[in-house]
Amino acid sequence: MKKDLGPATAMYPSLTTIVGAVVNGRPNFLAVAHVGIMNHGQPQYISVGINKSHYSGPGIHEHREFSVNIPSEALMAETDYVGIVSGKKTDKSTLFELFTGELQHAPLIAQCSVSMECRLYQVVDFPSHEVFIGEIVKTWADESILTEKGHIDPAKVRPLLFDMGTLSYYGLGPVLGGCWNVGKKLKKG
Ligand SMILES: Cc1cc2nc3c(=O)[nH]c(=O)nc-3n(C[C@H](O)[C@H](O)[C@H](O)COP(=O)(O)O)c2cc1C
Repeated sequence: MKKDLGPATAMYPSLTTIVGAVVNGRPNFLAVAHVGIMNHGQPQYISVGINKSHYSGPGIHEHREFSVNIPSEALMAETDYVGIVSGKKTDKSTLFELFTGELQHAPLIAQCSVSMECRLYQVVDFPSHEVFIGEIVKTWADESILTEKGHIDPAKVRPLLFDMGTLSYYGLGPVLGGCWNVGKKLKKG
């Protein structure tokens, strides 16, 4: 039996990220799980959906730059914290060790093994959220999480997955099969 859940969002789990922006002259960070990959190839765009009531949005509008950082399981408490407290009341600028890449207003988190610097490309306006679409200008990765071929190894990143229904963080499970590969056995001819 299937149950009708109405128009519920069922797009979970999703990747939990920490988005960084410079707001009122200081780096600010918030947890963002509403993330998407836009386009594929060059340029490469990604989207982050941010509630209009949050402190971060105006900083992204002002500087047209932001960062997207991938926290590991080890950063679960810090990630949750920047998703609970707002820069409106709490200075979150000293929580992480920061580094700067090419963009001056895309604060990057040293403790995250993967960080992307983004230049704002487009803003899509929804009733509650703005979706900021950014062009990835540069991606930084710790050498320790790369495969021998230089690809990011999710098993080493240990990303946090977010589920809205149960309000829980999940970890990554084992590799189940190869993409563009395991389906081949169902091909006819
Ligand atoms: C796991 C998690 C995921 C979140 N995802 C989003 C999101 O995708 N979009 C959003 O607007 N807020 C999201 N939030 C809430 C914001 O991170 C939170 O309200 C934050 O305090 C806003 O910070 P700011 O006011 O300093 O910008 C999330 C919170 C948590 C704990």
